[in-house]
Amino acid sequence: MINSLILVAAGSGSRMQASLNKLLLTCEGHPLIYYTLKNVFKSHLLSELVIVTKPEERPVFESIVSSIPHRVKVLFAQGGEDRAGSVKNGFSLVSKDSDKVLVHDGARPLVDGETIDEAFQAISEENPAVAVGVPCIDTIKKVEEGRIVETPERSSLFRAQTPQGALTGLFQRAVDFLARGGTFTDDASVLEKLGVPVQLIPGKEKFFKVTTPEDMERLGQMLRKDRCPFRVGQGYDIHRFDDSRPLHLGGLKISDTGGLLGHSDADVLLHAIMDALLGACGLPDIGHYFPDTDDRFEGADSSRLLAEVKEIIENEGYAVGNIDSTVIAEKPKLAQYIPAMKERIAGILDISPMDVGIKATTNEKLGAVGRREGIAAMASAIVFRRSN
Ligand code: CTP
Ligand code: MG
Repeated sequence: MINSLILVAAGSGSRMQASLNKLLLTCEGHPLIYYTLKNVFKSHLLSELVIVTKPEERPVFESIVSSIPHRVKVLFAQGGEDRAGSVKNGFSLVSKDSDKVLVHDGARPLVDGETIDEAFQAISEENPAVAVGVPCIDTIKKVEEGRIVETPERSSLFRAQTPQGALTGLFQRAVDFLARGGTFTDDASVLEKLGVPVQLIPGKEKFFKVTTPEDMERLGQMLRKDRCPFRVGQGYDIHRFDDSRPLHLGGLKISDTGGLLGHSDADVLLHAIMDALLGACGLPDIGHYFPDTDDRFEGADSSRLLAEVKEIIENEGYAVGNIDSTVIAEKPKLAQYIPAMKERIAGILDISPMDVGIKATTNEKLGAVGRREGIAAMASAIVFRRSN
């Protein structure tokens, strides 16, 4: 049994109003088509996949395909003028001995492997064609010149999704029929036109077609829901002593001398905490946001930078859970400052001082810190997703 699937991906995504085919736009770290492919490859019954792309986009599609483990044969066909043209081109590469063929929109990334398998299974000599669809929840109105002219009975109305398909021999007839012209927005309607009975099997709301920027936002929300809501990060920093400078640590000025060398105020503890927070959110480190080549950060108050980091991570949808940290220094003795440091850091991050851990240790005279050449700090942070 050879089960083929034509994945149409050669549109331009004009309603997305982006400069790039919507299928190549990044959502949660991957191009949209990555998710479609990943889910299509989950089908157990699929034997061959024909991906229809614009010729100039084919290399990028190829590299996405090769990044996802798969066991099926993958072929590439050239896009057509419209969706129907792309289906036709894709079909021309389907194996001659293919038994069943489905068409799926590249723009429906959250299709699942089970439904693709159900669609293949539903096709038989008795039930030669299939389409996936969901019941209409809203009442549908037929409107002409701004006026409702008909309210079809809702219980019999469904919204068609993809995959859709038929026995391969029969699909050939649909493709030949298409060649004679006419506008069809899906494959089932061509089969219907030919008098072929098309069985509707249950789809899912999540199989929606990503068409507008709002759809892209919805996709991002749904993908984020599947990810762990907690994220851990770690940070490390070390600064050399410069006795002529004041010592800033944990957002406090500890002394006027015995400080650390650095472009900013060299608050090694706050720097480690900032890196832990940024790292937890999968963001670049503080050097990216506050480069030491930028005059704006010369002598900068690290408390202010920490407040900025809080804003950056909040804009990414995260809030701080808790922080733990260790300062490694032979001098000065820090125990007496720790409660005030916790208060200060908690105040900037708008969390409880109980959610800020600070420990101080010496390096037992070992290494550079042990030789009193500088102070190092390590921090861990947990952040959690506040919004979807
Ligand atoms: N498609 C295709 N070839 C075309 C037009 C569309 O392969 N000439 C594909 C799209 O890539 C998409 C699917 O058909 O996966 C459904 O089409 P649609 O959502 O309309 O996508 P676009 O045509 O790209 O978007 P728009 O209509 O907004 O331009
Ligand atoms: Mg279109």
